[in-house]
Amino acid sequence: QAGKSGAAPGLNFEPVAPNTDDKLTTPAGYLQDVVIRWGDKLFSDAPDFDPAHLTAAAQQRQFGYNCDYLGLLPLKGQHEFLLVANHEYTDEILMFAGYDAENPTREQVEVAWAAHGLSVVAVTSGQRGKRSGALDPMVDHRLNRRFDTHSAFELTGPVAGTDLVKTAADPTGRTVLGTLNNCSGGLTPWDTWLTAEENFNQYFANAASVTDPVVKERLRRYGMTGGASERKWERFDDRFDLLKAPNEANRFGWIVEVDPYDPTSTPKKRTALGRFKHEAATTRVTADGRLAVYMGDDERFDYFYKFVSTDKVGKGDNRDLLDNGTLYVAKFTGNSPAAEITGDGTLPSDGAFDGAGEWIPLVTSHGSEAISHVPGMSGVEVLLFTRQAGDAVGATKMDRPEDVEPNPVTGVVYVALTNNTKRLLPGEVDEANPRVNNKHGHVLEVAEARNDAGASAFAWRVFLLAGDPNDPSTYFAGFDKSQVSPISCPDNVAFDKRGNLWISTDGNALGSNDGLFAVAVDGEFRGQVKQFLTVPVHAETCGPWIDDDRVLVCVQHPGEGDGSTFENPTSHWPDGGTSVPRPSVAVAWRADGKKIGH
Ligand code: FEO
Ligand code: CA
Ligand code: CA
Ligand code: CA
Repeated sequence: QAGKSGAAPGLNFEPVAPNTDDKLTTPAGYLQDVVIRWGDKLFSDAPDFDPAHLTAAAQQRQFGYNCDYLGLLPLKGQHEFLLVANHEYTDEILMFAGYDAENPTREQVEVAWAAHGLSVVAVTSGQRGKRSGALDPMVDHRLNRRFDTHSAFELTGPVAGTDLVKTAADPTGRTVLGTLNNCSGGLTPWDTWLTAEENFNQYFANAASVTDPVVKERLRRYGMTGGASERKWERFDDRFDLLKAPNEANRFGWIVEVDPYDPTSTPKKRTALGRFKHEAATTRVTADGRLAVYMGDDERFDYFYKFVSTDKVGKGDNRDLLDNGTLYVAKFTGNSPAAEITGDGTLPSDGAFDGAGEWIPLVTSHGSEAISHVPGMSGVEVLLFTRQAGDAVGATKMDRPEDVEPNPVTGVVYVALTNNTKRLLPGEVDEANPRVNNKHGHVLEVAEARNDAGASAFAWRVFLLAGDPNDPSTYFAGFDKSQVSPISCPDNVAFDKRGNLWISTDGNALGSNDGLFAVAVDGEFRGQVKQFLTVPVHAETCGPWIDDDRVLVCVQHPGEGDGSTFENPTSHWPDGGTSVPRPSVAVAWRADGKKIGH
């Protein structure tokens, strides 16, 4: 292996330079292709994508908008995979000609309902020859599936069937139509998909007119304070009006478990994992065989959570595993004097932003029962209003916890904190969130006690303070900053098999396009951040998915910028010319057919 001028094992590629090009840029020696675009058909009975004539009926049979989470599950041999993707939200101004945000038409709203949700689509490399990493959708595969704003989802766990989730349309409080704003996610050891409902608040109107002070405060804590909603869905379906359907919003904000191998299965909203703006849900088996699920709540000053199941992971479908267990929230305590945490990124005298942490139990779910560990709140209230439970126990207010990923080699858990420009005063920083006006974000390492995901205590340290390496407030785990790529706003994270961390970004505050970065977390190259790709103009980079042969990313919201419209978008990716931008899944692989980064 080469010395410092070389690269960590598996990260041997020439970094891509920051740019503002309207294309996907990958390292020299790599090829790329689009796997599937918004509007591509999953079923042959769908019409070809026609941006001038979108219909809900077509969209229900086509790949949805704004893909975020991306998973690739085994299907057949080395060539066929099941691709699962979230469709977080819609950009109507880029989707419809002459869109009037104040007066959307029913047809436009129905297209948006169909463009939200989830896709399951079989993909194959079999059509392109052995050395190609390209993947093509298998139209009409029996496992292809779309879920949208009107698909049935089952509420499970203690909140299911309780009064606060009953509605006129669903007096049982057990069947919800739709999943909304699904951001990142994760997979379970039994090959189901966990998808995270994030900013569901934006779809619900008229919180401002709610009078009950308890209800109003609960709505406020979840970001519902206004009148009309951004997309005006309440004009076309009463359930998006909090005055007409006061409990509908309680049916969103959950982790949803999907079995993509059973095309008849009903996905389950797992209420034992709490309700917040769920960013992701990634899993690790505990020392005694139970399942830990790590979860972030993506909001400035919100919390980092863990659920640990009561039962051990079994061989079957683990049908009830995520309905029984304890939900915890993280409290981080620094080990340096508070006066040494100055807010400008200067390391404290012990040389690290680090310390100890504890997992504070909030609620234990057992079948239909929820036992609260928070004084003044019932168990069901803790599950439904988890943020308020976190407030009550003094959890640590973080800089927007986005995706989380345990390192498959070491077990250390990595938490992406994307940014927080509202932590403004030196007195507001703590050792785990050590920068004021943290516009570039950071990454934390969490090492569970005894390396057991079931532990109630952990050690932690800051791995990365992102930004331009010339900015003195940045920190790249102590690596030589002259040899790293600038990085800003870490969002989704993934590991390759060797234990290298891959970080995708959203909202690059350095002025160039977002991208995907890779970094060793151990060994002599620990902290050497290298940019692997950049995405087109005004896109965020999501997914990502890394295996030996391929790097996949979701290119979300290309062209989502100030003044960008359907008629004059700031991006024409991926189709080029004067085309409308299309959120898509893309893949990169080595031209010589060798492994990624070798
Ligand atoms: Fe949808 Fe937190 O990003
Ligand atoms: Ca310290
Ligand atoms: Ca995200
Ligand atoms: Ca994001």
